[in-house]
Amino acid sequence: MNKDNPIGIFDSGIGGLTVAKAIRSLLPHESLLYFGDTKHLPYGEKSAHAIQECSKNIALFFKQKNCKMIVIACNTASSVAYETIKNECPKIEIINVIDPIVKRITTSNDTNTIGVIGTKGTINSDVYPQKIKSINQNISVKSLATPLLAAMIEEGFFNDKISQAIVHNYLKDPALEGIDKLILACTHYPLIHEVIRDFYPQEIDIIDSASQVALHIKDVLTDKQLIANQSQKHRFYVSDYTLSFEKSAKFFFGEDIHLEEVSTIH
Ligand code: DGL
Repeated sequence: MNKDNPIGIFDSGIGGLTVAKAIRSLLPHESLLYFGDTKHLPYGEKSAHAIQECSKNIALFFKQKNCKMIVIACNTASSVAYETIKNECPKIEIINVIDPIVKRITTSNDTNTIGVIGTKGTINSDVYPQKIKSINQNISVKSLATPLLAAMIEEGFFNDKISQAIVHNYLKDPALEGIDKLILACTHYPLIHEVIRDFYPQEIDIIDSASQVALHIKDVLTDKQLIANQSQKHRFYVSDYTLSFEKSAKFFFGEDIHLEEVSTIH
């Protein structure tokens, strides 16, 4: 595999750009191909089978583009489609956004009760409690599906009164009582990090995938001797183009982005 081949990153929409942004800042020589499956958004409400099919098609698209690595920058797809993609692309490094977080949680000694918020798909898959408990039985995991949040963020509501009311309403749910850390198990949520922090009067560790996953990717690329030498232009694809996605994508990624529509993804 050539070191200068691109890294493919995908999500249902633009949330995964939080992960892409963290990868860009940690690994500035890497060429990134981002795919937002806007035609099938939201993944959080879909069946596991439907998400596996969408993820498989995107993985094949990345395979044709000679990606050296595929990053599933979506917790919902990471929960249900990781094995599917690994089977489909056995020669490509596949990264999900869940394992680096589970590793961080289970290697720190100071966690007793951890909260997890994410889409219905992620929370119903029970993947976080299962993975955490398989390593450390003493950590208690409290989960809550927060399905409005990704849609709210895609619509451009973050860090305002509307997002504050919705976020606070979810976080006061008794299901999350007594937590000392909170996992933001959706790649959209780094955008509302401040609103979430504001809810808690005490200092609480809020963990999001973006920076943790970027660190993990750097380790894997270093280990496999696949760190790029020569950067090329990043490219951004969607399965359904709208101007509003393009505007939000610029905001999420922090630079001028041109979205290209790929009509071959069904
Ligand atoms: N960004 C996706 C995740 O991390 C969720 C958005 C959706 O429901 O499509 O789970």
